[in-house]
Amino acid sequence: MQMDSPKSVSLILSYITIIISLLLLPHSTESLCTSKPIIFNFGDSNSDTGGLVAGLGYSVTSPYGRTFFGRSTGRLSDGRLIIDFLCQSVKSSFLPPYMESLGSKFSNGANFAVVGSSTLPKFVPFALNVQVMQFLHFKSRSNDLLASGSKAMINDDGFQRALYIIDIGQNDLADAFANKYSYARVIKRIPLVLAEIKNAIKTIHDNGGRKFWVHNTGPFGCLPQKLWLVQPSSRDLDSHGCISTYNSAAKVFNEGLRHLCTELRSELKDSTIVYVDIYTIKYDLIANASKYGFTSPLMACCGFGGPPFNYNINITCGHGGAQACNQGSRFINWDGTHFTEAANSIMASKILSQQYSTPRVPFDFFCH
Ligand SMILES: *[C@@H]1O[C@H](CO)[C@@H](O)[C@H](O)[C@H]1NC(C)=O
Ligand SMILES: *[C@@H]1O[C@H](CO)[C@@H](O)[C@H](O)[C@H]1NC(C)=O
Repeated sequence: MQMDSPKSVSLILSYITIIISLLLLPHSTESLCTSKPIIFNFGDSNSDTGGLVAGLGYSVTSPYGRTFFGRSTGRLSDGRLIIDFLCQSVKSSFLPPYMESLGSKFSNGANFAVVGSSTLPKFVPFALNVQVMQFLHFKSRSNDLLASGSKAMINDDGFQRALYIIDIGQNDLADAFANKYSYARVIKRIPLVLAEIKNAIKTIHDNGGRKFWVHNTGPFGCLPQKLWLVQPSSRDLDSHGCISTYNSAAKVFNEGLRHLCTELRSELKDSTIVYVDIYTIKYDLIANASKYGFTSPLMACCGFGGPPFNYNINITCGHGGAQACNQGSRFINWDGTHFTEAANSIMASKILSQQYSTPRVPFDFFCH
């Protein structure tokens, strides 16, 4: 019996120490929020949690939502969007669309994003400036209701503590190309788009917002829908089969957005403005698809026509004739334009890693 020798005792003790320290370590994705997270989101289909359906009565039907919700929620995916994973990371409930009047509770914020939104033209539903005006209305109604004794409304302190997420710009660029603008003309429009994003941030700041989280735009030249519509010849394609001009316009836009964030950081010294490089995250996913367990990164799971894109503008996902693949988790692209829950989940964990953020701030910074 050598069990009680000092050597084995110290070995056991060191095991116990390791186990205890592992138990005490916070789980890396665990949020340590000290106050209730409040989030406001502005954007397009990349972050619309049901705004189009609530606002315009447009129907988004099965198989949308099949993977997580088991029904269509108006999200353009088979499951959760990046914004949903970000909310879950701080143990916040999913953001209700601002226009969802039935059963919504807005005590943890609201989502103003609507499918198809862009920054320009202004004053049309649901351009960024309209979304910001809706936010101002939301804020003034909250104040009214608080003054008349309502509980569970967000107060001035809440609006100041809240995180404001902005994810818009892709449709400005994509629509311009779709309208047959030349590359040069698309690039010329970019400063106007950036000016709208700047306006939005400054207006929110004027109304108490201090914490901003800005997503840049993805390589939309890799979307099956664009590839099908453009039918590019091989000289228009980059090394991963995406439309070069589209992606370089996205990069020019992103460079401008990065500059804008730098500029705003020195102008709004009391604020934190985090710029997140979604482009790099999405492009890596597409370029290295097999490494992440995906097949056919340029092909939609749900659509019509089979390889190479499984897309047809007349027979789109959710409509008669379209079919969904069996394993959505093997696809990056869901319906030709939007990402699967599987892709969104990986992208969200990359966002949460801080590796793609400037400055590197944990996502839950706003609830401390
Ligand atoms: C693909 O993955 C490799 C290895 O991680 C990385 O160096 C490379 O940048 C990735 N490609 C793209 C286009 O992101
Ligand atoms: C889609 O429908 C339009 C209008 O009916 C038709 O002109 C076009 O040829 C169709 N395209 C395809 C690819 O089926």
